[in-house]
Amino acid sequence: MVKRGSSYYVPTVAQSEPIRDPRLFIHNLVKRDPLAGFAEDVRRGLSARPKRFLPKYFYDELGSQLFEAICLLPEYYLTRAENEILKRYSDQIAGYLDGQITLVEMGSGSASKTRLIIEALLRRQQELLFIPVDISATALESSSRILLQSYPRLKIEAYAADYFAGLAELEKKPRGRTLALFLGSNISNFDRDEALRFLHALRKMLHTGDALLLGVDLKKDRAVLEAAYNDTLGVTSAFNLNVLARINRELGGTFDLRKFRHRAFYNEAAGRIEIYIESLFKQNVRIDKLDLEVEFAAGELIHTENSYKYDLTGIAQLAASTGFELSHTWTDSQKRFSSNLLLAN
Ligand code: AVJ
Repeated sequence: MVKRGSSYYVPTVAQSEPIRDPRLFIHNLVKRDPLAGFAEDVRRGLSARPKRFLPKYFYDELGSQLFEAICLLPEYYLTRAENEILKRYSDQIAGYLDGQITLVEMGSGSASKTRLIIEALLRRQQELLFIPVDISATALESSSRILLQSYPRLKIEAYAADYFAGLAELEKKPRGRTLALFLGSNISNFDRDEALRFLHALRKMLHTGDALLLGVDLKKDRAVLEAAYNDTLGVTSAFNLNVLARINRELGGTFDLRKFRHRAFYNEAAGRIEIYIESLFKQNVRIDKLDLEVEFAAGELIHTENSYKYDLTGIAQLAASTGFELSHTWTDSQKRFSSNLLLAN
């Protein structure tokens, strides 16, 4: 920036140097060699029976953007329903905590829903420290810059990390009264044991009087659920198959994406949407950097994601068995989605 008198002139030409912002700090805890974790997990997943990938590998730069597009789809009601709740109740939610609040968010992504909470908190206090934790360093950096531009009274200390590493780090830091956010039904990727482990770890990071706002998608009609994961524009399919494309890009894979397709259906007994990539043919695929040749049968499935759906009893049980008290649940007008305030006590 070039200072001119008392105003600042921001050149419109592209900057080769990033502009340093004293209100932003990003800790990068993602493995120094990010390829190593991905490569090893891909090797393990493709050797497993049934084959599987971990959902966190959806979110490279392209995958994160595809997910943003999913959130705009007419069939994907989750984001709009949660937005409706937060628009209507953010002041009420903030009112459950006392004192100067620090805001933590796990899996913040583009942080667009977070804005509603940030605005509610800035109506109550002069300054706000926001601590987002996300696996995607690029998503963190761009969302942080946009937030700082919108809110001059905001400071950001971000962690590029997976959830457990991020929580372990946060636990070491002294913090005031904290409101933690886990929005967007991000908890839905966890099975029951993982959800309990995660909430336990979150509870351990928090202190008595702190709270967690947990966004959870609700069980409902199969047709509505299945449409949300089989959109007619094919964005969810692209999001899912991008994992194969990512293996091609980063690990020298030779997946022909036309020979695979996206599958998603509701397993009602298990209470979850199951997402797979199906091999359309019997075929072999080489992955150069893993020095691996993988065989697929026609119709063979690679499991890529579960998305668990809850009812209110299930949410209350989760809270009660992890040291929280479920103090309030808000839903959207169509009762598709829930925002739950869990008090640490
Ligand atoms: C980010 C895990 C909440 O399960 O709805 C959306 C991910 N996958 N469409 C979900 C997802 C396919 C999403 N979560």
